[in-house]
Amino acid sequence: MLSIALAPPVLAFASDTAVNHAHQPAYTQDGELVLPADYREWVFLSSGLGMSYSEKAPEGEPMFDNTFVDPESYREFVRTGTWPDKTQIVLEVRGSASRGSINQHGHYQSGGVHGVEVHVKDSARFKGGWAFFGFDGGSSAKKIPEAASCYSCHAAHGAVDTTFVQFYPTLLPFAQQHATLSAAFLKEEEKALK
Ligand code: HEC
Repeated sequence: MLSIALAPPVLAFASDTAVNHAHQPAYTQDGELVLPADYREWVFLSSGLGMSYSEKAPEGEPMFDNTFVDPESYREFVRTGTWPDKTQIVLEVRGSASRGSINQHGHYQSGGVHGVEVHVKDSARFKGGWAFFGFDGGSSAKKIPEAASCYSCHAAHGAVDTTFVQFYPTLLPFAQQHATLSAAFLKEEEKALK
């Protein structure tokens, strides 16, 4: 008589820390970050229009910024409320126009890319885990030094792990659900309510 062996329980291969990351940050031999060429096909997080950190309003037409993240890191954020190693978040700056074609009011994105900045989490490479890069039309860029204000503002005010999740509406609920909002951000929110 044939005996039928019971199938062993299915093993889960995905560990909590290892993310199957198809979009890894790539570097040149001298350590510059290579601009991810396909970032426009990544997950869209948000657009800011004319966002400014100083009290004085900027002059001229406001600029748009568009933010994208690699799809594996997006899915991991949804699962855990924070970013895995090898996350890349791209901020693309574009100009705006108000009157054109049939448009009479409001602003639409117009013209080319004014600049691209990338925030990368790569713990083996960067002290503190994260580094910033600014691309000025080139295909690779040097790391922005840690003394730059990028690091201090993001560390002090970014809602999750030095990133501005408070401005990414599809992600904020997952940070709330997993209680990953930074203590500094929660304090700021509390103050704003008073
Ligand atoms: C005074 C605060 C402040 C400073 C200084 C600052 N940023 Fe940001 N940054 C922000 C805010 C606010 C956002 C969210 C933008 C949005 O919602 O469109 C952001 C978003 C970003 C993002 C998208 C990923 C993320 O971390 O949320 C990148 C990339 C970025 N900034 C790069 C830079 C670089 C490079 C510098 C330095 C040259 C810099 N930032 C300096 C406030 C700051």
